[in-house]
Amino acid sequence: MQISLAQQVALVTGASSGLGAASARALAAAGAAVVLNYHSQAAPAQALADEINQSGGRAIALAGDVSKEADVEQLFAQTLDAFGYLDILVANSGLQKDAAVVDMTLEQWNTVIGVNLTGQFLCARTALRIFNRQGIRPGVSCAAGKIIHMSSVHQLIPWAGHVNYAASKGGVEMLMRSFAQEVSHQKIRINGIAPGAIRTAINRDVTQGEAEQALLKLIPYGRVGEADDVANAVVWLASDASDYVVGSTLFIDGGMSLYPEFRGNG
Ligand code: BGC
Repeated sequence: MQISLAQQVALVTGASSGLGAASARALAAAGAAVVLNYHSQAAPAQALADEINQSGGRAIALAGDVSKEADVEQLFAQTLDAFGYLDILVANSGLQKDAAVVDMTLEQWNTVIGVNLTGQFLCARTALRIFNRQGIRPGVSCAAGKIIHMSSVHQLIPWAGHVNYAASKGGVEMLMRSFAQEVSHQKIRINGIAPGAIRTAINRDVTQGEAEQALLKLIPYGRVGEADDVANAVVWLASDASDYVVGSTLFIDGGMSLYPEFRGNG
């Protein structure tokens, strides 16, 4: 299977690090022009854009807070100014503000819901408006646009001490599926990815030493995931190789969502 995203334009939110950066790099390697959105980390986003441009790809880095409507409007307008089209949105920006529920502040709750859920709504809404205007681009893709919502195993697995995060990801699942139900007849493909524990900066504390050993008990496949495990799936879901995949969530978690604690138990 040969995947090419040549002539396509992808916007990746939260692309300055972690899964967003890996996804942007992989989309560029598959031939897409890539917009790397970042919130506050301009330097690594620009460095990745430079790396992609130097290796023959096309990329720009653009600032924007996905939880703010005006920022999102500007981000997508700048994307069209730079590359003329939008074919792929990877709604990836996400963060955690952990606290026991009795200690969780409204600010912690609102910040996480604002970025992880409202941010995905705002970005998808703007992308859908663009896809509707563009329609199918013959010879470029079978679909009139693709959206990939970055979720988490915690759209399924409750997570004590992280109720804002789990609630946001549960919301992402229904947002993704409802969008897909609403617009698939327009040949727009919307899917989600639910990663488990992936070795990224946000997870550094739990993916080394004793904490990693404890984490591995939750992963039947026996290893922590790498960012490319997710990025490869992003490229596939963005491509016509997955043209019949609509409204699905792909779990990329080494089996974490299989409730491995129940093996020989329960
Ligand atoms: C979180 C990680 C966590 C993983 C599995 C992800 O969504 O971002 O911090 O390790 O879920 O619990």
